[in-house]
Amino acid sequence: MKNAIHQKNIVLGVCGGIAAYKSVELLRLMTKKGAGVRVMMTPHACEFVGPMTFAALSGKPVCTDLFDSRNTDASIRHIEWAQDAHAVVIAPATANLLGKYANGTADDALSTFLLAVTCPVILCPSMNSNMYLSPPVQRNLETLRRDGHTVLEPGAGELACGTSGPGRLPEPEQILDRLMACLSPKDLTGKRVLVTAGPTQEPIDPVRFISNPSSGKMGYAIARAAEYRGAEVVLVSGPSALPDPLNVKTVRIRTAKEMAEAVFAHLDETDIVIKSAAVSDYRPKEVAEHKIKKGEAETHMILEQNEDILKSIGQRKKHQFLVGFAAETQSLRDNASAKLEKKNLDMIVGNIVIQPGSGFGSDTNRVTLFYRGGTQEALEQMDKDTVAHIILDRVMERIPPK
Ligand SMILES: Cc1cc2nc3c(=O)[nH]c(=O)nc-3n(C[C@H](O)[C@H](O)[C@H](O)COP(=O)(O)O)c2cc1C
Repeated sequence: MKNAIHQKNIVLGVCGGIAAYKSVELLRLMTKKGAGVRVMMTPHACEFVGPMTFAALSGKPVCTDLFDSRNTDASIRHIEWAQDAHAVVIAPATANLLGKYANGTADDALSTFLLAVTCPVILCPSMNSNMYLSPPVQRNLETLRRDGHTVLEPGAGELACGTSGPGRLPEPEQILDRLMACLSPKDLTGKRVLVTAGPTQEPIDPVRFISNPSSGKMGYAIARAAEYRGAEVVLVSGPSALPDPLNVKTVRIRTAKEMAEAVFAHLDETDIVIKSAAVSDYRPKEVAEHKIKKGEAETHMILEQNEDILKSIGQRKKHQFLVGFAAETQSLRDNASAKLEKKNLDMIVGNIVIQPGSGFGSDTNRVTLFYRGGTQEALEQMDKDTVAHIILDRVMERIPPK
């Protein structure tokens, strides 16, 4: 499958809060993922950001008024938009809107539309901390949760009003992430997935190490996609600048040895293992206690081999479905097929890491999937999120139902 919002109709509701400007970025992220987004704004929201910005970025008229005389096609937008929507995101959701929605008030386009909606609704409260923590707002949020809506926890920190505490709108990327989770099929529910990602670092001295340019993007995309689809996910990650995926148990490690320990600690209670980490094959035999000074070191370094974690899992695995990665610079088919056999894998994802738009650090990847029995499937270049979903699709097609 592609990402969960591709070609889906999303309505973005924007209220009159200071964070309304962040919704512009949220809209951009949603359209970039292929969603069709219509924007509905409260009259107060228009005091903060002009409807023109949302119209230009969504490519669609923005609804700000229930009784808009310019709406010449006689459509009843608050009903039609509600019927067409696959999901609704209200960001920012003001204290006022939350109170109206919790109590069934319908006195403008957005609040009226919300009562006609039957698809999932994600509410993103954002306001001054005292407002957020006030008993009426908390009561309304409780009611809205009980009504089955998703309420995103606001972030804590310094707010635009100068105070500090909970009330900050989550970053647009986080809102998009929860929208993806909300609209994903839950076909991995009950599955426990272990993913490894990123590089390892093998210290030479306290300030130097052997490593590789892996960013972790592919593995993190797989962990996120598995979580969206209902799996219980453990992510064992080498050093990476990426944030921990939401609802994923992320174990941060540094060396190949630490990665092996973390993987084997979770292996028994895992159904699917996807090893996308770029693990260092070797480590320095000696690690200097202090920084090596120029002229002090030998001009050669003695290395010793790290444990081949993938091979060890292949030897130990019982019920687990094991997916490996082969990052190659040549002879992909021969190298990947040999690795599949030698390490007792069920599937291997191969790519040529030196071609443009593929491999380390890139947001896209061009991979070939190799299966047991000698079959293979070459995929086009695509973003790593889509690659992640296709890998999970192929795994699920090959796992016998319980
Ligand atoms: C400068 C300014 C910033 C505001 N920021 C927020 C906010 O972040 N969250 C909120 O709930 N209300 C905020 N308000 C108050 C709302 O704008 C007000 O409650 C309004 O009635 C909300 O209308 P709406 O929910 O129809 O958009 C702010 C008001 C002003 C003047």
